[in-house]
Amino acid sequence: MTDPESDPAELFHENSKITPFDVGADLDDLPPIEPGVFLGRVRLPKVSAVRGVELEEAVLGRVTCRDYDPRVPLSQDLLSRLLAFGCGFTAPSNFPLPSVPFRRAAPSAGATYPLEIYPVVLRALNIRPGVYHYANIDHSLELLRPGDFRTQLAEWTLGQPYIADASVVFVIAGFPGRIRPRYKERGYRYMLLEAGHVAQNFYLLSTAYGLGATADGGFVDAAFNRLLGLNDITEIALYNVAVGVPRPA
Ligand SMILES: Cc1cc2nc3c(=O)[nH]c(=O)nc-3n(C[C@H](O)[C@H](O)[C@H](O)COP(=O)(O)O)c2cc1C
Repeated sequence: MTDPESDPAELFHENSKITPFDVGADLDDLPPIEPGVFLGRVRLPKVSAVRGVELEEAVLGRVTCRDYDPRVPLSQDLLSRLLAFGCGFTAPSNFPLPSVPFRRAAPSAGATYPLEIYPVVLRALNIRPGVYHYANIDHSLELLRPGDFRTQLAEWTLGQPYIADASVVFVIAGFPGRIRPRYKERGYRYMLLEAGHVAQNFYLLSTAYGLGATADGGFVDAAFNRLLGLNDITEIALYNVAVGVPRPA
């Protein structure tokens, strides 16, 4: 691990954190996650792009949702679409590196891909609630921690109760070590910009599918990192997008 005092990006990140003390969060109930150990795998249904979803209409309809219907679970098809078109592999890549075989739904500086997506499933049809990692290589969900984290997510997002009624919270996490060797301190900036690309994909796709989305930049960093099994320094939660079924007006 880098010494935060010698890395301005890491120092900045440390100083912008919201701490467990800010919400009185107790993280003792969350045991650490063994790196690389998955407790199950969900193969998401294969999806192909559907004609008829107008991008401009999705942009015009995009709005932040803060009222979800907790009675309606998300279908596997829509969860699969959100991931495939939000952050998945899209087409064979012509990037001149054999390590980059596919293009992805969101651009990445120098095809370094410093982001990973961790869906925290709250209510989805035939998917056990819990913390997952999205494996784009085979479009599957790797189960890291089963459990119902609705209450904790509402608390750790500084008391946003509607988050508990969403179907899934996509945590966008960064691994700055992937981008720093190429871009030095500027890599941290690129990593944050990339998180914005992915988040906007989730917003527009949600709008196109008749779902709601909430961007969440305010969260207790240590709580989310602990929940996901990230080390809080070189593996860091950056941004969340909650997605769910809006409550009928
Ligand atoms: C970086 C960022 C962080 C945000 N964090 C939150 C949040 O924690 N909770 C929330 O309800 N909305 C959050 N929002 C959504 C904004 O409040 C919202 O986009 C803004 O009020 C404009 O409303 P609209 O998205 O419906 O057009 C965030 C948006 C951004 C870009």
